[in-house]
Amino acid sequence: MRRVTRRVCMTTFAAVSLVALAAPVMGGGPSPSAKKIRIGYSQCNRGEPWREQMDKDIRAHAAKNADIDLQMKDAQNDGPRQMAQVKEFVNAKVDVIIISPLDTSLTPAVAEAFDAGIPVIVLDRAVLGDKYTCFIGADNRLIGAEVGKWVRETLKGKGNVVELKGLSSSVPAADRSDPFREAIKGTDIKIVYDADMQWLGDVAREKMQAALSRNPRKGSINLVYGANDPAAIAAYNAAKDAGRESEMIFVGVDALPHEGIEAVRKGILNATFEYANGADKAIDAAVKLATGRKAEVPRKIVLGTRLYTRDNVDKGGVEIKAPEK
Ligand code: FRU
Repeated sequence: MRRVTRRVCMTTFAAVSLVALAAPVMGGGPSPSAKKIRIGYSQCNRGEPWREQMDKDIRAHAAKNADIDLQMKDAQNDGPRQMAQVKEFVNAKVDVIIISPLDTSLTPAVAEAFDAGIPVIVLDRAVLGDKYTCFIGADNRLIGAEVGKWVRETLKGKGNVVELKGLSSSVPAADRSDPFREAIKGTDIKIVYDADMQWLGDVAREKMQAALSRNPRKGSINLVYGANDPAAIAAYNAAKDAGRESEMIFVGVDALPHEGIEAVRKGILNATFEYANGADKAIDAAVKLATGRKAEVPRKIVLGTRLYTRDNVDKGGVEIKAPEK
């Protein structure tokens, strides 16, 4: 009886050891011979909700592929620091660089990496010129135009607007502003105050305080367009502090579930337009670029957008269709 037990134990031990040895191959882990795909990822400022989410999504998608070795860096809203990070990735000869640049000042660093033969995927804020491998982002010009259309319809062609614009040295700032202005042209909608809020809620709050003190009469501001949700929400808070939030309509961009969409549900924002971060597509493209499948990676990947308002938020918003070209 005892001998039988020992034999059972030994057989079980042997089986467990075999499984343990084979595990990396059988369990979807890295194959012993596979070379790691080294991705260097530089985020311009993790300290913002939208970018925090982007980093989480990048990490989660990379974690699905055990062959990926992801090195993440946060430039903390500092252009020269982000340039140095790109250089470090080039010196380390990573297989692919993913960068979400602070602004166009990152153009030369990206071009240098590209010229050094390292594929570069640019996310969200564009660089200038064509020295990068793939750009992934939503269509900010479309979003700007749709905000303009929504504002025109909501204000019925008449009213005073405050526009809190993104960092002027970053491409999405003008892309979200110019088509917006174009769309309200020829109406009785006036921009009574505008300012660069550098994509930051704190700055937006100060700018909104200035807008309120320059337009002190009740009802003299009818709508605030924040180029991102942190700005639109900060503007609401500034107006609330002044006891004036109920005079105004607030619209933003980003539509994170726990930020903009939540704010629409709570009645803080009247509308927000989705700005997807493209993390899944970036990791997918990085793997293709690192494994000889460059031909499968388009030069530009345009992400879709949705509009969330108080009327449609519980139904998941509505898709915005790009006009046929
Ligand atoms: C975060 C952010 C987002 C915005 C995007 C524009 O830094 O400001 O809120 O949609 O960048 O590039």
